[in-house]
Amino acid sequence: MNKPATNKPARPPKGPGRPAAAPATALDADIRPGQSVELLKELHILTRDGKLNQDSRRKLKQVYHLYQFIEKLLLEIPPSEGGPGIVDHGAGKSYLGFILYDLFLKPRGAGHMYGVETRPELVDRSKALAQRLGFDRMGFLHLSAADAVHSDLLPATVDMVTALHACDTATDDAIDFGLARNARYLVLVPCCQAEVAASLRQNKALSLARTPLAELWRHPIHTRELGSQLTNVLRCLYLEACGSSAGSALGSRGKRWASSPCNPNSPSTARSRCAALRLRWPVRLAMISSFFRLCSQPTSSVTVT
Ligand SMILES: C[S@@+](CC[C@H](N)C(=O)[O-])C[C@H]1O[C@@H](n2cnc3c(N)ncnc32)[C@H](O)[C@@H]1O
Repeated sequence: MNKPATNKPARPPKGPGRPAAAPATALDADIRPGQSVELLKELHILTRDGKLNQDSRRKLKQVYHLYQFIEKLLLEIPPSEGGPGIVDHGAGKSYLGFILYDLFLKPRGAGHMYGVETRPELVDRSKALAQRLGFDRMGFLHLSAADAVHSDLLPATVDMVTALHACDTATDDAIDFGLARNARYLVLVPCCQAEVAASLRQNKALSLARTPLAELWRHPIHTRELGSQLTNVLRCLYLEACGSSAGSALGSRGKRWASSPCNPNSPSTARSRCAALRLRWPVRLAMISSFFRLCSQPTSSVTVT
């Protein structure tokens, strides 16, 4: 029988994913103890001769920043036999997944990391890289985030769902996936939110004639920004309506990733508030369709002022 996993790192493994031999240059600040230099080369963060690739440095910093936040959450997960299960949506080249595996799952000898991605060439590339590095508890699935919600290729329950700049509504699908699989944590950094903005853009002239509030989205740049703001607000209400705390990590590029909500809503208040918001804003969305089904159920009357 496997030993139950603990949150303490095990001794570093041997093999191609072996740790860096104590880096002794200016790279020290960028490479963590035990981190696979081979991986950083494969991700083009380091050049073939081991120098830091300046173009990729920003990506590495971004992923480390997120890693620090995620690590604290992973440490709060009670140890289990299989270790934590993490699913990353819109994985792309899987920088985040590989770094999470290398820094957290690999030293503990437990846990699984899955990447969900719609571009088959990126899925194949990540599979090949994981195999080369001996990262055998990583899996990559050629699936859309929406299809992942019902896929039996992924575990029935997972500990964490991540989505770093998953395009447009893929973040909503990642939320649905996390709720369906009882994830303890959703770590979401949304990107290029287009759906609400497109909805605001429709009938803009009519909206302007009807309400001075439409000034908030008259200029194209404001349409995008307000669309993004409304999307995040609706996502938080959705999570609260489903009984989750929505403080988590909803934020946009470069903004704070972690926040705690002021006076969290109860599920029924979140539903009423969303219904009231939808009366105020001319958004017609397929986004989070299950949420809108929830919100069309009778609610107590709440006025948004
Ligand atoms: C901006 S990239 C981010 C990649 C990676 N998470 C990162 O931060 O480096 C977005 C990725 O999401 C993938 N994607 C877009 N829509 C998707 C969907 N509905 N389901 C799964 N992946 C999707 C794209 O193919 C792309 O690789």
